[in-house]
Amino acid sequence: MTPVITIDGPGGSGKGTVSKIIADQLHFNILDSGAMYRVLAYAALKNGIDLGDEDRLYDLGVSLNLTFTPVDDGVATVLDGEDISLRIRNEEVGGAASKIAALPKVRASLLERQRQFATAPGLVGDGRDLGTVVFPEAQLKVFLDASAEERARRRVKQMEQKGVNCDYGQILKEIQERDHRDRTRPVAPLVPAADALVVDSTSMTIPEVVETIMKEARARKLC
Ligand code: C5P
Repeated sequence: MTPVITIDGPGGSGKGTVSKIIADQLHFNILDSGAMYRVLAYAALKNGIDLGDEDRLYDLGVSLNLTFTPVDDGVATVLDGEDISLRIRNEEVGGAASKIAALPKVRASLLERQRQFATAPGLVGDGRDLGTVVFPEAQLKVFLDASAEERARRRVKQMEQKGVNCDYGQILKEIQERDHRDRTRPVAPLVPAADALVVDSTSMTIPEVVETIMKEARARKLC
């Protein structure tokens, strides 16, 4: 059976960064499931599809011509041959992704596409429900959390490094709204799997988080 490590948690907990480092160390494949929801939201906005129209969103979800292509500094998100990696990383698309992600048919439309990433030699996947719904048999499930305030601080710092000024209060509000939606939705809510290792990264460095997870991976003979 292909080894799978799932790292779920709220936005800004560091799961994307940590997943990438662990996948590199183990030479495993990587799945950024949030990017799939973002691509679907982006395509819906672009095609003028109502964000509540489950049937049209389902059809769009199953038919997306989407690939994740390795590039020098990571993975490019390519839709219909166009690199949209940067276009899906804004609050408009993130908010739309969180809205459509609450719809059962939208989740169903992306499920099989996510499972196809579990190929040899192994997979590190990050998202919200990878340990609870997508890969319930995963050998190691991690739930990576951090306080909303700390996640807002990290986001502001990230934006400033890119030369974009932003308002901490506004970012915190957006994070709290998205969290609330993700944690309270009836389908696949953001909750730790019963057998997940819960890691609170609020006052941890990235290397500390990576080592905590790697220690557990070694204990489970995944490397
Ligand atoms: O992780 P990221 O912020 O890119 O995800 C965007 C949105 O997609 C999240 O707010 C969440 O609502 C949704 N999502 C999800 N299930 C996943 C991954 C992301 O519902 N496995």
